[in-house]
Amino acid sequence: MTRAPSSTAARENDDRSTYEAVIERLSKASVDKHWEPYKDIPWDDPEFLVDQSDPRWELPEVDRLGGHPWYLARSPETRARIGLWRVATAMKIGLQFENLLKRGLLNYAYRLPNGAPEFRYVYHETIEEGHHGMMFQEFVNRTKLPVRGMPGPLSLLAQVAPWIPLISTELFFVFVLGGEDPIDHVQRKVLKDDRAHHPLEETIMRIHIAEEARHISFARHYLRDRVPRMPRYRRLMLGVASPIILGIMARIMLAPPGPMIRRFAIPRDVVAEVYLRDPAAKREIRDSVGRTRELCSEIGLVNALTRRIWQVMGIWA
Ligand SMILES: [Fe+2]
Ligand SMILES: [Fe+2]
Repeated sequence: MTRAPSSTAARENDDRSTYEAVIERLSKASVDKHWEPYKDIPWDDPEFLVDQSDPRWELPEVDRLGGHPWYLARSPETRARIGLWRVATAMKIGLQFENLLKRGLLNYAYRLPNGAPEFRYVYHETIEEGHHGMMFQEFVNRTKLPVRGMPGPLSLLAQVAPWIPLISTELFFVFVLGGEDPIDHVQRKVLKDDRAHHPLEETIMRIHIAEEARHISFARHYLRDRVPRMPRYRRLMLGVASPIILGIMARIMLAPPGPMIRRFAIPRDVVAEVYLRDPAAKREIRDSVGRTRELCSEIGLVNALTRRIWQVMGIWA
């Protein structure tokens, strides 16, 4: 016997309960599997101490700068310090992004009605991001390098991010994916290359990847639930804003640190060659937003007009 097609209302109910079950599962997983930086990382273990000249910090050859003749001609100590500077800057920018993210999550949760399943999950996520911030800053402190995070003007502009949920929660979760996806992409890639990693870096990355998987999953499910039900004009506006946000965020997350370029006097043409002109650098930026790009197509945020914006931002496949 063929089952009668369910009505739209029944289907929407089904979708809603599937979505709520996912949130419940993510909340439960946050209780069952989580880490605390000052309990679960043996910072003072001799194996975990950070030595600036440890060759394990050297950039791999697959890194565009790491494979460049200019880099290979430096002393082993300088190569290690440059590599450590890169890692520490990524963590510093990561913790600044997550600071904005936490404030935005709290602004979102502030207005949630009683009984909303998102409330508990968003608090779990905020707490985990609090742990990540401490973990990243502790690492940066232990490198004893004067790394800075986002450049000043950008950092000033970024202060609007926590207020995005007041205008559009959907746009806010696109911003969330814009930061989390590139970080996750890079960390997974680093762990997959078969080089010897410093155990502190490896531990931090493993903890981060495991917890971020939930954060990314929540943002994706939230957008899948909400975007198809948005009024057409709001969906079009989101479709226009998303590639702009994602293109900018990916570059912020993957950009080479200015203070490092100055400190090691990396020649201008080397920087331009490895970070701007190299097709592999452009591919890396496109790849780092790959999963979010697919999601945007799936939920109806890509049409002839918005596809053009993705292309202009250099993040279309
Ligand atoms: Fe995080
Ligand atoms: Fe996160």
